[in-house]
Amino acid sequence: MTAECDTRAFWAHPGLCVTGGRLSIAGRDAEAIALEHGTPLYVFDLCRVTERVGALQEALARAGLRYVTRFSMKAQREPEVLAHLRRLGPPVTPQTIGADVCSPVELASALTGGWEGDEISYTGTNVSDRDFEAIVAHPIRLNVDSLSQLRRLGRHAPGRNVGLRVNVRCGAGHLGRSGGSLYSSDRPTKFGIYAEQLPEAIGIAREHGLVLTSLHFHASSYLLRDDLADFAETARRAAEMASVLLQAGCPIDEINAGGGLGLPVAPDQEALDLDAYAAVLAEHLGTLGPVVSVEPGDFLFGESGVLLAEVVTAEDRLGVPFVGLDAGWNLAPDRFIYELPVTCVLCRDALPEAVRLTTITGNINEGDDVFAEGYPFAWAHEGDIVAIVKVGSYCQNMLAPHCGRTKPPAIYFVDRAQAGKG
Ligand SMILES: Cc1ncc(COP(=O)(O)O)c(C=O)c1O
Repeated sequence: MTAECDTRAFWAHPGLCVTGGRLSIAGRDAEAIALEHGTPLYVFDLCRVTERVGALQEALARAGLRYVTRFSMKAQREPEVLAHLRRLGPPVTPQTIGADVCSPVELASALTGGWEGDEISYTGTNVSDRDFEAIVAHPIRLNVDSLSQLRRLGRHAPGRNVGLRVNVRCGAGHLGRSGGSLYSSDRPTKFGIYAEQLPEAIGIAREHGLVLTSLHFHASSYLLRDDLADFAETARRAAEMASVLLQAGCPIDEINAGGGLGLPVAPDQEALDLDAYAAVLAEHLGTLGPVVSVEPGDFLFGESGVLLAEVVTAEDRLGVPFVGLDAGWNLAPDRFIYELPVTCVLCRDALPEAVRLTTITGNINEGDDVFAEGYPFAWAHEGDIVAIVKVGSYCQNMLAPHCGRTKPPAIYFVDRAQAGKG
């Protein structure tokens, strides 16, 4: 990347920057990509995935941790991305990235992609008998998240190794619409075995000959720099629960701290300090003995993907500038599901000097299909191309074909000089 690549914007990185005022993705002009391939279109800079995986692994190593990294497949399951991840490191080296899956379909994707055994963890919820049948045949690391599920597994696969997903009763990071973590908080959630349930869990395991080999907690979402004290509390409580299992003689060999590492979604947010994050893991979990694993999704993939859309409506409505795109909420649902702000960039004027407070809407026939209101946006015209950034995680998997607006194509650049396979 040359010095012309301006990464001043909070959403920018070497694979998504501003060159001569225009947005560039993996070194190519974003508007030119849209004109060549059409819109709506997902465009990926897979080098960003490599950079994020490397940065995380290096921070864990610098903290002195014995670590395992897996990616959360619910965030990304496109075959091109899976193939890229599988190439990142030879199996069973610190550079390997394994897969955490949450359904039989995701498990099949991991197996087809070449992951096997311990490289795969399965952390599902409300797992049915059908699901268990598909899972237990494979020697993967399986985490269950309630006593009821532990009993059900015991009936399916007595004698199997299993991990306990625990609920540490507090959370960290973005708290979303409920004002509390939907994963782990002081009110009951559907995830995880509570501290006072551990003796019963040990009893159920003994009854069915199940061997408790890991402890899993996922209690964070969109962790940023200021959230680490809360994250430390989740890790401290998880360590206490791991100690209970270890003292009961359970051969716990892995403690999984889940995902939840965040990326800034607004200019005033400060990025997570990976070394500080790894230091929290090392302080609370690193000395217990078991290997420490993490399974992020958004952090690894979010920044790698951009959605390009055409401006099909541009007019002032009752004095308010409106921009309408040929893409709707279903292609980039962060604002609608997680209440996170969406960032839109006008590709031909990506760092505008003059902005108007604009309403940006999509092409789904619902009043809620509004990406942003009062959004400081460049002066847009019909035919312009807009990039919605940070759509590399979750969006392709969550896509709902509402109004017949189905999944758009994607192109994947595997380097910052040449286009990859489409
Ligand atoms: C069990 C588990 N692990 C990992 C993740 C990945 O989370 P994130 O994309 O926030 O890193 C999730 C997401 O909700 C999850 O439920």
